[in-house]
Amino acid sequence: MILALCGSNRAGSTNHLLLAAAARLLADVDEFRVYDGVATLPHFSPDDDDAPPASVVALRALVGQAAAVLISTPEYAHGIPGSLKNALDWLVSTTVLDQKPVVVWSASPTGGEFVHPALIEVLRTMSGNVLVGASLQIAGPRRLFDLHGHLTDAATEAQLADSLEALRRTLGVAERADLHS
Ligand SMILES: Cc1cc2nc3c(=O)[nH]c(=O)nc-3n(C[C@H](O)[C@H](O)[C@H](O)COP(=O)(O)O)c2cc1C
Repeated sequence: MILALCGSNRAGSTNHLLLAAAARLLADVDEFRVYDGVATLPHFSPDDDDAPPASVVALRALVGQAAAVLISTPEYAHGIPGSLKNALDWLVSTTVLDQKPVVVWSASPTGGEFVHPALIEVLRTMSGNVLVGASLQIAGPRRLFDLHGHLTDAATEAQLADSLEALRRTLGVAERADLHS
């Protein structure tokens, strides 16, 4: 299963629309799930890390089960949106991201020039296997969709498909290594 997290809680979010496009592109091959609890997780506190609330237990289990993680996020004030960072903070003390392939899509008016490297740094610090070559900076995402939220930009669709293909190749290699071990 590929698990997706979104850095925007906005209705009509372009990052959510990008994840919807990912779901479509992966429909015939992989189970793809968008985690919908980012906005409602409690604020992280180290005091609750050892006995976290049920929503956090569920998030940790989902990330643990996932073969890979895809994150699509806007940039807020040159940084990672707080609710996404909060979700990641709940994972820091666990091993659920250890060596797990992670792809980052940063979609903002300027292409996420600040959030992209910042998020990659955070994920690497958490021992995620960030596929930098498969990760994307997407500038001006609003112009890519029609009024119904359909991705209409063929070049972006091709970029998303290439990014997901690189992720699936990494998963294929990992699966073959497992079979032979
Ligand atoms: C609080 C806030 C801060 C923002 N800061 C930045 C920023 O620093 N750089 C940037 O490129 N866009 C910034 N934006 C614009 C968002 O990145 C942009 O609207 C993005 O498309 C939102 O993603 P969404 O459509 O998935 O909600 C900011 C938006 C908000 C609401």
